Amino acid sequence: MSKLIRVELGDRSYNIHVAPGLLAQCGQFCRDLKLGHRCLMISDANVAPLYGHIVRESLLEAGFMPHVFVVPAGETSKSQATLSLAYDEALLHGMDRKSFVVALGGGVVGDLAGYAAATFLRGIPFVQIPTTLMAMVDSSVGGKTGINLPQGKNLIGAFHQPSAVIADLSAFTTLPDREYISGLAEVVKYGVIQDADFFASLEKNADRILAREPETLAQVVARCCECKAEVVRLDERESGLRAILNFGHTLAHAIEQAAGYGKFLHGEAVAIGMAYAAALSVSVAGLSNEAAERIIRLLEKFGLPAAVSGLNWSAVRRAMKTDKKNAGGTVRFVLAREIGRAEPGIEVSEELLEEVWNVIGQ
Ligand code: NAD
Ligand code: GLY
Repeated sequence: MSKLIRVELGDRSYNIHVAPGLLAQCGQFCRDLKLGHRCLMISDANVAPLYGHIVRESLLEAGFMPHVFVVPAGETSKSQATLSLAYDEALLHGMDRKSFVVALGGGVVGDLAGYAAATFLRGIPFVQIPTTLMAMVDSSVGGKTGINLPQGKNLIGAFHQPSAVIADLSAFTTLPDREYISGLAEVVKYGVIQDADFFASLEKNADRILAREPETLAQVVARCCECKAEVVRLDERESGLRAILNFGHTLAHAIEQAAGYGKFLHGEAVAIGMAYAAALSVSVAGLSNEAAERIIRLLEKFGLPAAVSGLNWSAVRRAMKTDKKNAGGTVRFVLAREIGRAEPGIEVSEELLEEVWNVIGQ
């Protein structure tokens, strides 16, 4: 059940370990990386009581000096105030340039801890220990780190690759259903943008995935990490190809903003955004109706929304304009040519944007 995926990035290459029971081995993994003595383990108030002691003990046993910093659970911790507290804790603990950061938690902790590591003393190593499905298949891999500003999400950030990703599948036993299902949106995304066979295997194994069957999950998480690792290898800094990872995200970000952050989980908004992008793809990218229907059926099978109500188009459209991925005021979409093949940067007319919204935005 154990999988190893390598992210090939020259001297910034690293391994992603996927298996149950890895938390207790994280000290050993860190020792193999020849990291410095002191480390700051950042976790959140839900995850720390569940898994913090296992990670801390493993680090101690391996000869490290961990200092634990627990932040409130939720998006509000991706803030300048919490980041500043993380720097305080690191200094208090006597961290130097050889020290490292451990991120134990979901994407919030991973983004915050990664950015703290990217900037503290001009950059120190960090290890990602993701505990949500979203973090295992997406946010812990690829080196995007950052925090939010009051003006918008992820407006401050840096590319900083982790030294390793340790994905312990046992963490799924405590993950709430809604969070787990939200992560499945990103799983579906990889099938749509990169791998038609994987998409078909998701359709076939949907019940096993929903039942969190460990062997199936090991395959799913590993395949998603392989897909992401390949894109990141080819385009680490998102000069082109990497944008395909944003399939469904243009509308998703707009929905999250227009509805008010917190109403939708990120994956839920991505699912609606993928249904929207699939419909646009039928109109302008040659995706067949049948393929678009398969995408929507799979999202619905997983219990994800493929439509939304109660949001006003002009508010959503306005929010789309503030998406930081826009180029020169035009909204550009990642669209699917077929299941397994997506293309970034496709312009869509204003009329079509609204026409398709009228179908899924009721
Ligand atoms: P999250 O980190 O807020 O975690 C979701 C909730 O689950 C939290 O309440 C957390 O405490 C709890 N939790 C985590 N693991 C648990 C476990 N095993 N058992 C019980 N509870 C657990 O949310 P997320 O969905 O993991 O990540 C969302 C964040 O990730 C957003 O800030 C988003 O911007 C970011 N993100 C970043 C990237 C990237 O490439 N850097 C990609 C996607 C998303
Ligand atoms: N989550 C999108 C990316 O890593 O590029």
